[in-house]
Amino acid sequence: MSKPVVLNIAKIPAVLQQSLESEFELRTLHSPGDTSEISGLVSSAIRGVDLATLDQLPGLKAMSIFGVGMDKVDLAAARRRGIRVGYTPDVLNDCVADLAIGLMIAASRKIPQADGYVRSHRWAETGNVFDLGDRVSGKRMGIAGMGRIGRIIAKRLVGFDVEIRYFSRSEVRECSHERVSTLQELAAWCDYLFIAVSGSAQTRHMVDAGVLEALGPQGYLINVARGSVVDEQALIAALENEAIRGAALDVYEVEPLKSSRLTELRNTVLLPHVSSATNETRTAMSNMVVENLKRFYAGERMLAEPA
Ligand code: 8YV
Repeated sequence: MSKPVVLNIAKIPAVLQQSLESEFELRTLHSPGDTSEISGLVSSAIRGVDLATLDQLPGLKAMSIFGVGMDKVDLAAARRRGIRVGYTPDVLNDCVADLAIGLMIAASRKIPQADGYVRSHRWAETGNVFDLGDRVSGKRMGIAGMGRIGRIIAKRLVGFDVEIRYFSRSEVRECSHERVSTLQELAAWCDYLFIAVSGSAQTRHMVDAGVLEALGPQGYLINVARGSVVDEQALIAALENEAIRGAALDVYEVEPLKSSRLTELRNTVLLPHVSSATNETRTAMSNMVVENLKRFYAGERMLAEPA
């Protein structure tokens, strides 16, 4: 029996590429062949799947997304055409939460700057004590979005003897922390504001000038969610004016981040969207991408389909 024809349009790990090649007839954007034969599509949360792509694939029946964020996937168009969608939630929660903690410490204790101080020999040349950082433990931690990832961030933070409150659309029953009714209120209360909401039209620019002002001159912003959630121009202004103390970001409004004031400021820690990028997590995500497609072609439910 011939193998199902699957098109990959994203940058994917080698391990995923190999599994897809062994299970399916894998096509790429450079050599898509006869596009009417393509019944499966692989993409990533970063690359997404837009309407134009769907329109070029008349025989598409299923797509398997490498990642959890669906903000760039046209789910409505897929539903209209009866195309099944699989994605990779949960397996990345731990690593994304771990990195949020790493960003918190990196920004507060100036880890990248301190590393540069040693490497550039400025420490050896001057013998000076490096700039003081801010204590993390015992502080007030605010989490915007108490979903799968927000909950693990909270769990990690407990070890720092902190107070935790959160903001989310509705009360999260399994969560013992106090919920506050607006993001502004959370920002005004906390020292560290973690962003863990999904990217969507509803959350776009949820962190605006008012929220940053409420966070205040001692406050840090940590974003491991989506760049669209933060008004980046308002953030740059707040960082320039020291209206907030610092920002540690893994995600940006436009990725990859090119020339931006963010890269020139000293009160930022900037990562290239790597929160799920560990060997273990990327392997687990890869396995899920393949398993979702295999199940689809076997006539079974995928492991995870977005709501
Ligand atoms: C990945 C992500 O970086 O899952 C998401 O929503 O943004 C990340 O896990 C991405 O899927 C890799 O392309």
